[in-house]
Amino acid sequence: MLVLACPKCGSENSEDGRFCASCGAPLATASAREVRKTVTVVFADIAGSTALGERLDVESFRHVVGRYFALAQGCFERHGGTVEKFIGDAVVAVFGVPAVHEDDALRAVRAANELRDLMGTLNAELDRDYRVSLELRIGVNTGEVIADVSQIATGDVMNVAARLQQAAAPGEILIGEQTLQLARGAVEADHVDALSLKGKAQPVGAHRLLRVVAGAPAFVRRLDTPLVGRREELAQIRTAFEDTVSERRCRLVTAVGAPGIGKSRLARELASTLAGDATVMTGRCLPYGDGITYWPLVEIFREADAERELEQALAAGASEEIFWSVRKALEWRARERPLALVVEDIHWAEPTLLDLIEHLCDWTRDAPLLLFCLARPELVSMRPAWGGDRITLKPLCAAECDELIEALVDDSAVLTEIRHRIHKVAEGNPLFVEQLLAMSADRDDPEEVPPSMRALLAARLDALPNDEREVLERAAVVGLEFEWQALAELDPGRRRPSGAQLAALVRKQYIRPHETLEDTFRFEHILLRDAAYERIPKLLRSDLHERCAQWLEGRGEEFDEIVGYHLEQAYRCLTELGPAGARAAELSERAAARLARSGERAYARGDTPAATRLLQRAVVLYRADDPRRLRLLAPLGRALTELGDTDRADSVLSDAVDRARATDQAVVAMDAAVALSTLRLHTSPQEMSGQDEVWSQLDAAIPCFEEARDHAALARALGVSGNLRFWRGEAAAAVRDLEPAARLAHEAGEWAQEVDSLQAVLMAVYLGPTPVAQALARVKELEAMAQRNRPLRVHVLRVGAYLEATQGSFVTARQRIAQAKELAEELGLGLTLARIALQSGPIELLAGDAAAAERELRPAYEALERMGQWGYMTSIVPPLVDALLAQGLDEEGLQLAEVAEQKAVALDIDAQVGWRRVRARLLARHGDLDEAHRLARDAMVIADPTDYLELRAQVKADLADILDLAHRPQDAASIREEALRLFEQKGNLVAVASLRNRLRVSQPRA
Ligand SMILES: Nc1ncnc2c1ncn2[C@@H]1O[C@H](COP(=O)(O)OP(=O)(O)O)[C@@H](O)[C@H]1O
Ligand SMILES: [Mg+2]
Repeated sequence: MLVLACPKCGSENSEDGRFCASCGAPLATASAREVRKTVTVVFADIAGSTALGERLDVESFRHVVGRYFALAQGCFERHGGTVEKFIGDAVVAVFGVPAVHEDDALRAVRAANELRDLMGTLNAELDRDYRVSLELRIGVNTGEVIADVSQIATGDVMNVAARLQQAAAPGEILIGEQTLQLARGAVEADHVDALSLKGKAQPVGAHRLLRVVAGAPAFVRRLDTPLVGRREELAQIRTAFEDTVSERRCRLVTAVGAPGIGKSRLARELASTLAGDATVMTGRCLPYGDGITYWPLVEIFREADAERELEQALAAGASEEIFWSVRKALEWRARERPLALVVEDIHWAEPTLLDLIEHLCDWTRDAPLLLFCLARPELVSMRPAWGGDRITLKPLCAAECDELIEALVDDSAVLTEIRHRIHKVAEGNPLFVEQLLAMSADRDDPEEVPPSMRALLAARLDALPNDEREVLERAAVVGLEFEWQALAELDPGRRRPSGAQLAALVRKQYIRPHETLEDTFRFEHILLRDAAYERIPKLLRSDLHERCAQWLEGRGEEFDEIVGYHLEQAYRCLTELGPAGARAAELSERAAARLARSGERAYARGDTPAATRLLQRAVVLYRADDPRRLRLLAPLGRALTELGDTDRADSVLSDAVDRARATDQAVVAMDAAVALSTLRLHTSPQEMSGQDEVWSQLDAAIPCFEEARDHAALARALGVSGNLRFWRGEAAAAVRDLEPAARLAHEAGEWAQEVDSLQAVLMAVYLGPTPVAQALARVKELEAMAQRNRPLRVHVLRVGAYLEATQGSFVTARQRIAQAKELAEELGLGLTLARIALQSGPIELLAGDAAAAERELRPAYEALERMGQWGYMTSIVPPLVDALLAQGLDEEGLQLAEVAEQKAVALDIDAQVGWRRVRARLLARHGDLDEAHRLARDAMVIADPTDYLELRAQVKADLADILDLAHRPQDAASIREEALRLFEQKGNLVAVASLRNRLRVSQPRA
């Protein structure tokens, strides 16, 4: 239940009451409640004030300190800070309450620096009046605080600021790490050795402030990179400019967009394109400061070398006079040469300046003057009737973002994951692209959002009226997208925000209506959502998440994952605050149950990556000894196996076997043991007994599963048995296990297992005795099933592709391979993706393109090696060696053949035949014909008892080549005939044709 503290007496109240049960005061609405925010704190204290107090009369001392306080307070407030308290002779100012500004850190540093400078003047006075002078020690630090109803901020950041101040020498300003980072564009500082501060376990990084660069922004934007996109916008402004010239009048164009979207960059581009035709001058509005009303004009007139002129105009006093003089001055210049004025950031402009701009627009006569203003969306609510044309700057599209990334990075290889994340997080905002890229270059944690970006977003939120901001906070708990109704569910009074509130947020570009769903909205930017979320105190977050879960609970199983997510978050928020209590335990169990359910469903439908993530989260949430956790381990282990995460799969499955055995759960133990021994068979060929181990597991497990009527487990066991037979070279027998395995899996709703069995059926049909025509028919049947089953579709495509290739249909074959790869990649199936090469390589070999075959096989070889999947890797090697030999790369082929020999599992027929066959080819090419012949015959002896038609045929064809080299044409011809007959039996038309050719060429004419 949500607990609200009474703002007056502090006693706790239930969420439903509107008045405090103890004192009757109105209860804090969400607006008055605590928020988390990042602020910058300045501690400024007088050095040696004790000695001073001794020397001066109490009355004088009070006077001296009072003058210092007044000076400090004025200085901090001018920069937008709030003096929070006076402790002894120290002044504590906070930048970020009541509202956060994007440049709080820089403001604080500026104020501290200015205060130090002002001490000179104060000291002159104090010397005159009291014969004393003061020196300050100042500490500045930035960090997260919790700010309460009365806007008092508390947090470790305060303590550190105080400690920095104490560590500073008289006259010194020490600033913290994060402060420097946030203000570094305008600050010069010396690194100080990390300070061990009283009460801090870790040394604290600090910097000695040297200088603040006047007028510099807090962080540098890179306006030097080539412009990306924005062609239409430029054309539109250009047209407006041409109108001013042809019509000799003023036109006002305003570009509106969120911070960082590229307004300044656009203006800069405009300036350079207009430079040949006009005089372009730029002025910027400042966010704060004394006498800033006409600041942009000061900049513009300075650029025009006409500062005196402006001074005279401003001296007039009355704004009508000022407007008139400024207009005359500009008209006069524009008549000489067309004039384009850029006024940046007019959302910070004083109303008077906006009036002036409108005056210029309305009254300029007979002079070509373009006024190009830049503004954030809040201008629209400040000044709804703002005139002229408006251009709304949209985010860059994905291709443009890529272009920007390329332009920003020197070595063009930005990792795919980083690129992916930048796309996702930046959502087309070029500033965010830039900053994320810079961050990823000097940090390891790609998840981190640069502090400057967070400050920008926090400031945008703090600029909103309370009620609108609260709407956003509640929405942020729901997620990036949220339903209108959800906001009511999360409101303490169950009130829905009004349509007007939402409309205002849409207008100000914080949210936008969902493209398709009614009464649903989406945050304009995911980082805005994150920023709103971060403001909420964790205790409250926890409650809101739980409420959100409760609201969604009744919605059916497809919401399990979302409900689970909210419960998980509710739990996490609590545990971040302190040790988990009973409530946290209850939340984590509920979360785990939901996540497990949706994970199991994802697994059953073959969405392995999702299943892995969900199951893993559930496993973490359950207590280690919870029996429900144990039941998730085997599915998680199998999912990890399929993803190629071999090590983790092994440890999860081992854990499952141990725990299940320890608690006498036979079925669970068997199920995990079968999965584990199968995994190890593929990954630890050194364990020669591997296969026996699996067989004995299966012999025990199958009757056990039958008795327990566990169809799913039985299907899995039969699937393993089928796969093993298949390994042994008994394709037909394998199918006899695999077909019932698929059927049982289907009945048990275990899609993934069904897919696994059916893909093995496909493999058996493709390698075994089934003729190609029949095999293609089976592929067709499965293709129909695979419409709704994408993992199965990958296998249908790859096997179908090979079969087509044997008929000479290489175009179709390659198309299918491409589709299979695309799909496997989309599904995130790393292992399956690598296995596609088992077909795509041989297809290219059939087509006679060895280089292409190598391109298919090598990356798969490397991927399987990384995964430690030796079983598949040793099957990839023989065709890869074939491809290398065809290109004369014998040396490399030899190395690979050796690897395959070492890694081949004893009972894996394909591997055992494969390495012998290619090694024999290599030996023969290098003249060792005896050894080559011996090895090739060994391969034939192993292959012949199997029903792998193609494998047998290939061994024989290669042996025939060796016999040719040994000048035994008769023997060669007769073995080649045998190979031919096998290929004919299979129906591999391409191989048949090529062998016939060989026979014709090599056979001496009778
Ligand atoms: N179209 C663009 N092409 C290349 N870089 C851009 C583009 N738009 C913005 N940028 C870069 O993104 C950053 C933020 O742009 P800026 O113009 O300062 O945003 P705004 O003025 O809207 O806050 C700058 O470093 C700028 O160079
Ligand atoms: Mg700008």
